[in-house]
Amino acid sequence: RPISKVPALRGTNVTILFYEASTRTRVSFEVAAKNLSADVVNIAASSSSVTKGESLVDTIRTVEALGADMIVMRHGTSGAPYLAAEVFSGSILNGGDGWHAHPSQALLDLYTMRAHLGDVRGKKVVILGDVLHSRVARSNVWSLTAAGADLWICGPTTILRGFDAWARRWSGGGAPGHAGFTVTSDIDAALRDADVVMALRLQRERMDAGLLPSLREYAARFGLTRDRLALAKPTALVMHPGPMNEGVEIAPDVAILDRSVITEQVTNGVAVRMALLYLLAGGHPEAVTNA
Ligand code: CP
Repeated sequence: RPISKVPALRGTNVTILFYEASTRTRVSFEVAAKNLSADVVNIAASSSSVTKGESLVDTIRTVEALGADMIVMRHGTSGAPYLAAEVFSGSILNGGDGWHAHPSQALLDLYTMRAHLGDVRGKKVVILGDVLHSRVARSNVWSLTAAGADLWICGPTTILRGFDAWARRWSGGGAPGHAGFTVTSDIDAALRDADVVMALRLQRERMDAGLLPSLREYAARFGLTRDRLALAKPTALVMHPGPMNEGVEIAPDVAILDRSVITEQVTNGVAVRMALLYLLAGGHPEAVTNA
């Protein structure tokens, strides 16, 4: 359904500052801000004075001096948005930082699941793939365990490092307000009777680190194929945050099944990011206090 433009953020300057490549997050934040009638400024670090040695703090101060009220940023270093928030007087929205977090992606993933399944409490959700390097997986652990999903994290043992210790720490109940979750390399056990299967991009550069023997072996043992998906419920949703390596972590024919909601995730990203921008601009006093 088309989203009509509303004047909620008229006169608000939203600066989009990305230090890493992006299609979905950058464009959907821009569309979201424009739907709210904000003034949008786009800065790609690769064509800014960052290339001349400008520090993150200096860039943030410069962007503020140029009128930014809100900054949406993506950075390759975990924690960079927190540093930015210390020197910026407006709101910082994290569009992905290192391996740490991608909160707006997790919210749009949860929104998409709820749109199809209703409440996800007790629903079996499998995140399959390269979780070690995935900020999407980490943010989804927080959101899905808060929502009460029966969350399974699955991949080769070498890339489950950290998640297994995390799951052990949370065994018996999780953090306050969060359910525990299961970590396994047994893909059949993970997929059996799943309500949702989310494949994650295999980050090819990880091959060099000796974590995985070869793309072909990974695809053969952990790729989401039709045969494997048959273990899940017949109605199981297929998800992927993108960008996809089709033929590696997900077979091309699985990505376009009727129950694949991959493009719907992208579309939902606009509405979810409109909500985030609106709330952080002061649209809801409690949200601003809690942010
Ligand atoms: N899901 C996601 O973050 O995609 P982009 O890298 O294209 O923004």
